This record gives sequence, C-alpha cells and structure tokens, in this order.
Amino acid sequence: MRIGVDYYPEQWDKAMWEKDAETMARTGVKLIRIGEFAWSRIEPREGEFDFTWLDDVIGIFSAYAIGTILCTPTNCPPLWLYEKYPEIIQVGSDGVRIRTGIRGHRCINSPVFRTYAKRVTEQMIRHYSGKPAVAAWQIDNELEAYPCSCDVCKGKFRDWLLDKYNDLDGINKAFGNSVWSGEYSSITQIQPPTDYPQAWQNPALCLDWYRFRSDSAADFVRDTTLTIRLEDTKVPITTNAHLCRDNPDFYKLFDLLDFVSFDNYPPLNIPADPDEYYSHAFYLDLMRGIKDRNFCIMEQLSGPTGCWTPMSPAPRSGMIMGYALQAFVRGADTVLHFRWRTALTGAEMYWHGILDHSNTPNRRFLEFSDLCKKVAQLNILDNTYIVSDAAIIYSPEAEAAFRIQPQTEGFSYIKQLTAFHSALTKFGANIDVVPSNADLSRYKLVIAPSLHINKKESTENLYRYVINGGTLVLTARSGVKDEHNNCIMDTLPTVFKELIGADVAEYDPIGNGKRTIRDFAGNEYECSQWCDIMRLSTARAYAEYNDGEYRCMPSVTMNRYCNGVAYYVGTICRSDFYEDFVSNLMMQTGIPKLKGLPRGVEVTTRTNSRDEYICFFNNSEESAVIPLPKPMYSIISSIGKDKLELRPFEMDIVRK
Ligand code: GLA
Ligand code: ZN
Repeated sequence: MRIGVDYYPEQWDKAMWEKDAETMARTGVKLIRIGEFAWSRIEPREGEFDFTWLDDVIGIFSAYAIGTILCTPTNCPPLWLYEKYPEIIQVGSDGVRIRTGIRGHRCINSPVFRTYAKRVTEQMIRHYSGKPAVAAWQIDNELEAYPCSCDVCKGKFRDWLLDKYNDLDGINKAFGNSVWSGEYSSITQIQPPTDYPQAWQNPALCLDWYRFRSDSAADFVRDTTLTIRLEDTKVPITTNAHLCRDNPDFYKLFDLLDFVSFDNYPPLNIPADPDEYYSHAFYLDLMRGIKDRNFCIMEQLSGPTGCWTPMSPAPRSGMIMGYALQAFVRGADTVLHFRWRTALTGAEMYWHGILDHSNTPNRRFLEFSDLCKKVAQLNILDNTYIVSDAAIIYSPEAEAAFRIQPQTEGFSYIKQLTAFHSALTKFGANIDVVPSNADLSRYKLVIAPSLHINKKESTENLYRYVINGGTLVLTARSGVKDEHNNCIMDTLPTVFKELIGADVAEYDPIGNGKRTIRDFAGNEYECSQWCDIMRLSTARAYAEYNDGEYRCMPSVTMNRYCNGVAYYVGTICRSDFYEDFVSNLMMQTGIPKLKGLPRGVEVTTRTNSRDEYICFFNNSEESAVIPLPKPMYSIISSIGKDKLELRPFEMDIVRK
C-alpha cells in the first residue's frame, strides 16, 4: 500500500520542487503523478520537445525515493496546435465548435490530433523508457465517451454503423426508421443525436451513438497503449476513470491496460435521510471488479471541492484518513491525493488539495501525515484479498439506455444497484460488482438489477448460473429491449420469463406515486416509481401489492429453476425492504451475516491462506461501538479488543 499525490510542477516556481519533494518524503509520500496537462511545456513549439524540466522534476523526486507516474499529456493540446488545426477541436451536440481556453476539448477521433498525440507520446516514451523512476504510465486524463459531432466523428460513426449493419437497409431495420419517415436513403443523412431534447430522438440511434463514442475512447486507449508498448515493454499502463454523464464502458476501456485507476471523490455530505442509500463504497467495488484485481486511486478527495460548482464543505475531521483507508481495504493498493497543493491560478483554484494556497501545514495536512504513517503499518494486508459470496451485476449498456430514456420520475439505475449494495453492506458482506458476462459460479448470490438490453451471452450466463444452483435476483425493467434498444413483442421480462417462472401481466409507471407491498411474513413496505403486476406460472409470490387496484397481486416472485432459485422484484422500494429481503437471501444461501452493525459501519473482510482480517469503517458522522464476538487483535492500535469504538470516519482492523 502506497500513498502519493498529484503534482503539477509546471504550475510552481522550479525553486519549490526540491522543498516539495523533501516535505513529501518526510511526510511519507511514495509517488507523484505528473504531466497530464503539460503538453505546451513538453512541446512548446511544433516538433521541439523539451524534457529537461521533467528530467529535473523526476530526478529531484527520485533522489527522495519518490517514484513518478508519468502521463501522456494529450488531454490538453497546446494552443499552437489548435490554432494551426482548428478542426481538432470538438463540436458539441449543438453543432458549435468548443472554444479553446479550457481543457479536454480535443477530438480524440481527429486524425490530425492522433498524429500529434502519437508523436508526443512516442517522444516521451523514448526519452523515459528504461528509467526506473517511472513507475507507471497514465494515458491522457479522465477519458469520456465524448459527444463530439465534428465531421470526422460523423464520418467515423457512419462507418461504424456500416461495419455493424452492412448497409443502409440494415441500419434502417435496426433503428426501426419507418417511424416518422426516418428512413435513410443516403449515408450522409445519418446524423448524431443533436442538442434537441433527447427524448424526441430515436433511442436506437442514441444507444449506438453512445457505443460508438465509448468505442472511440477505448480505441484511443488501445492505440496509445500500443505506441507505449512498442518502446517500453515493462512499465505498467493505466488511465484514470471518473464518474460522469458520458462514462465510457469501463470494461472495454481497461481491456488492454495493466491496471484500473479511479478518481475518487466521495460526497462530502452524508445524506441526512437515513433511508437514502449511501454507498460510495459501491464505486470502489465496481473499480475492483473491472479487472477483478487491485486498482489505483489516481485522485483522492483532499479538501473542499469547487470551481465549476460553488465550493463544498471541507472534509470532516477523519475523512482524509478514513476515505483513503476505505479505498485501500476495498482493493486500491495505491492512493494518490489530488492534489499536493491548491492551485493559485486557473479555473481550479478552489478545488483544494492537501495544502491550502498558503502552503503552510493545516489540519488536513496533519491528518494526511498520519495517514502516511498508518499505511506503513498496514503492509500486513498486502498479501490478502477479498473473497465475496455476493455479486451485483453492473451493465454500462443498461446505464446508458436508462440515461437515454429515464423510465419514470425518480427511477435511477445506479440507485437500484446501490440499494442492494447498501443492504448487503448493512450485514457486513463482501460484495463484488461485476459485468454480466463474469464467471458467476463462485457466488452464492447474484443480483442483476434492471438488465434492460438483452445480450445473448449475459442471458445464457444467468440461466447457467441458476441451473447450476445459484440464487439470482432480477428486478423490474429487465429484458425490455433487444440489442438495438428497441422494444420486443413479448410479455416482460421476455428472455427471463422462463427463469423467473412468471411474467408481467401489466405494468404501471407510478413515478412519485406511493403504494405498499406486503411480503409472505406480513411485513409491509412502501414502494414507488414502478409496479410490475406479476402473473405466476411456476413461481410463488414473495410479496403482493397491498393497496389500490393491484391489491393481492404479486409484486415480488420466487421461482425454483433446475438447481437454483430466481427472484424477481417488480417494484422499487425504500431501504427497509432491501434490507429484509437481502437478510432472507443471505440466510437461505448461507452467507454469514454480521448483525447489529451501527448504521454507516462498513465491513470488509480480507483473507489469505492463513489469516482473516476484518476491517470496520465508520462511514458516518456519529461515533459507533461494535461489540466483537470474541476478543480480537487490532492491527491499527496493536492491542487486543473485545469491542471497537470508532469515531466518525475511523477505521479499525482486527485479525480474526
Ligand atoms: C478531475 C481531474 C483533475 C481535477 C479534479 C478536480 O478528477 O482529473 O484534473 O480537475 O477533477 O477538479
Ligand atoms: Zn470529433
């Protein structure tokens, strides 16, 4: 486990570098990440490359035993390049070219951009290949499925469609273009969705447009990876993912890369409503699941955030330490804090780093120093890993499809995933978040909310899992669309009907309306947003609607199928339902439960062939007391304990 920081040498007087390196080394920093925005310093004029300053930085830091993660600077082409080739700037969905002066606005499909990006990358790799101070390469920064509608992207999108569907006829069929005289009679009529409200545009076109944009980001990563590999076969390569409206498909983005990196900004306000699912840990599990292996936090929350938004509150006392440890125990072997010192200039001057503008030690710096010391103590966890009995399936395509067509007021795909994640967390379970084609045979319980877009491979994977004895949960809005994002002439959930032994007789998108359901044991729960009225074939009702015209009709079903069981939750409830439901499922599948955990306490169990370590993280603003079933040794405080007393955001780790 290592702690690092994001550093921007080009933003500071070079006289400060050595002092910064010295302070970092004394604090316990092991790594810096540099260069992702520094193209104009690396190639100040076309074809003139200057690595002297980078050599100095890398040399100074390595003299203090601080390694460097070096980035390809392609996020920010220099202004001379934009001036010479304005066509490399992205065009928005309003058809207008973005103005220069901010970052990230290059079109990653532009051949001119790609030529220059490749050249600067090659130059860097040639210069740094074989230098031991370079610990890893980061490609670009926070790549998105950019909605660029420039002529190159339009052309590539058309080719992408022709490649997929052969000819215009194939595209017209796939898109169902007989609606509203939408039939293409020439390839140039194909246009990306525009700024016009998306709700008016063809969902089939919108989903393929998303897939194309996501593939474009993955293609840029693939190309850059190959460029690096030609010169340097050893140093590991990554790119840093972040959460945004235009998330690319992370599974494809990281396919060729050596490890996953994530920019981790947990919300600074813990929701006051205890019913609101709060499970930022979901994203850490998601990142670990992309390659089913440890990952890196390339940017970690360090201070009040704000620049394109008004400033957030400062991290509460304990958060700097707690959120870094939370990431560690969930699989991040390296955490770099964004950023060492807050910028004095530029748009991000209020996105605070560890140090404030004043550059004097502050509360956050002291906590960060403690973190560096604590991490050194936790090396014992290095050879442990997470084994989970339960998995939640995340589908980037479902997420994209729901973004294109929000189903009802309040409906959120990710909230369904986090609702189950929170419920499992409440009982102390380890959870993997995995793609729909993952090997599921290792799980006792698999939850696959709203698998909206049918994919033969995933459907078969789920059937196989249940046939072989697995317990599966599906939810409303599953099986609704074919692979083109069109509806299917069949009762829902179409391909899953046989598996769940039931179908949807009628659905009611009630939005913010409220209803209740009652389970087999007589417990009542409020539901809203969506009501599937289930018709049973081989399934039994687990819960029924309890009021209105659907009273006594099944809302949640359970079906034995071959050696396994498939549940279907046809509505969306508040957290109490998911907690009770998951509790029953854990009991039935033999997943151990930790009962009575205080609200907000998250547990991660890490094992190796000899030992088991239980990590308790108090992700709340209240102190928490956790009685232990027997005295256990705390590797944090190096003493035996029979109960844990955790301050807000504090973590303790005991050996079982
Ligand atoms: C992202 C970027 C960083 C910085 C932070 C905070 O994560 O990668 O460069 O802009 O946001 O603003
Ligand atoms: Zn473009």
